[in-house]
Amino acid sequence: MSAAIPELKQFDEAELDRVFAELEAEVSAQARALTSDEAMEAFRLEWLGRKQGRLGQLSAAWLKSAPVEAKKLLGVRFNKLKAQIEEARASTAATEARPVGAGLDVTLPGSAQRVGSEHPLVKTMAEIVSVFQRMGYSVGLGPEVETDFYNFEALNFPPNHPARDTQDTLVVAGQEGKPLRERLLMRTHTSPVQIRSMLEQAPPLRLVIPGKVHRNDAADATHSPVFHQVEGLCVDTNITFSDLKGTLDFAMKAFFGSAVKTRFFPSFFPFTEPSADVQISCIFCGGKGCRKCKHSGWIELLGCGMVDPAVFESVNQRRVEMGREPVYDTKKISGFAFGMGVDRIAMMKYGISDIGLLYSGDMRFLEQFA
Ligand code: PHE
Repeated sequence: MSAAIPELKQFDEAELDRVFAELEAEVSAQARALTSDEAMEAFRLEWLGRKQGRLGQLSAAWLKSAPVEAKKLLGVRFNKLKAQIEEARASTAATEARPVGAGLDVTLPGSAQRVGSEHPLVKTMAEIVSVFQRMGYSVGLGPEVETDFYNFEALNFPPNHPARDTQDTLVVAGQEGKPLRERLLMRTHTSPVQIRSMLEQAPPLRLVIPGKVHRNDAADATHSPVFHQVEGLCVDTNITFSDLKGTLDFAMKAFFGSAVKTRFFPSFFPFTEPSADVQISCIFCGGKGCRKCKHSGWIELLGCGMVDPAVFESVNQRRVEMGREPVYDTKKISGFAFGMGVDRIAMMKYGISDIGLLYSGDMRFLEQFA
């Protein structure tokens, strides 16, 4: 390589055109022989290499000795030569990438595509949903940015009621000019989708509602301002608390295994009456008592209850405002609802001790679930 630098006796256009025509012919001849990656790299180094590249050497030698009026003539020709070299490299690369033509080698290994996998939260949520789908539930969805009406008012949280404080709501700024019920907020639970669904559909209704929810909680090992819930709603004639118990007991056994037991405690939610908290026997120790269940043998998993008639009433009222039939007649129908936190369930199932890992996007964590 490193061919000698041709001597330039004069810097007139005719002489310059002559030497550059020779260089261009050389580039063309080499370009036709670029049939391998190695040849391509050698070609690049010969002409464009930072230290030994001929283009750099020629321009250093000639530009230095050229009289001022010839520098521009030289510059134009160097640029043209450089463009020719780049063009040769680009078109050769393009030909190689195209899977046609005589040079195609079908025995070369293909380029590997990295395949992603389901996030543990999405996986857990889908598994819970499928348990209820097998029982005849359909999937319902709703928006994460909600109005006060759907998140609170229609669910029987009156304005200024202390139960609103338990929700640690993140509100959208600049909403003060609107009536309270129209103000936007981040939904604090999936329960507003109960209301949206009943406004759209008449009973009977069996819905399972997965989704993301938001609360103004400081992040620590067990709290995240964003988390996930799966909600359930069943409305029909003759739905009783026994149906609720049977359904949840069946679902917990389907999800955690048939040895799991459930028990129900009185609780309070504004939109269910009566309300209950549900515990399952500890899936780690089988109920004997261990560190995971704080030696109680039980793990608290979800909230539930019979749909409060006040909820059916606000649905009927809104349906009338929308020009629809008030078909949620509390004399004919009743229902139950439940809601569970997906993150805690996923953490239990996969032995994850810090909820923050679920939201970190850290590949070293996520790859363990692939
Ligand atoms: N939405 C309640 C919560 O987030 C859970 C719940 C859902 C309770 C449905 C009863 C019925 O705390």
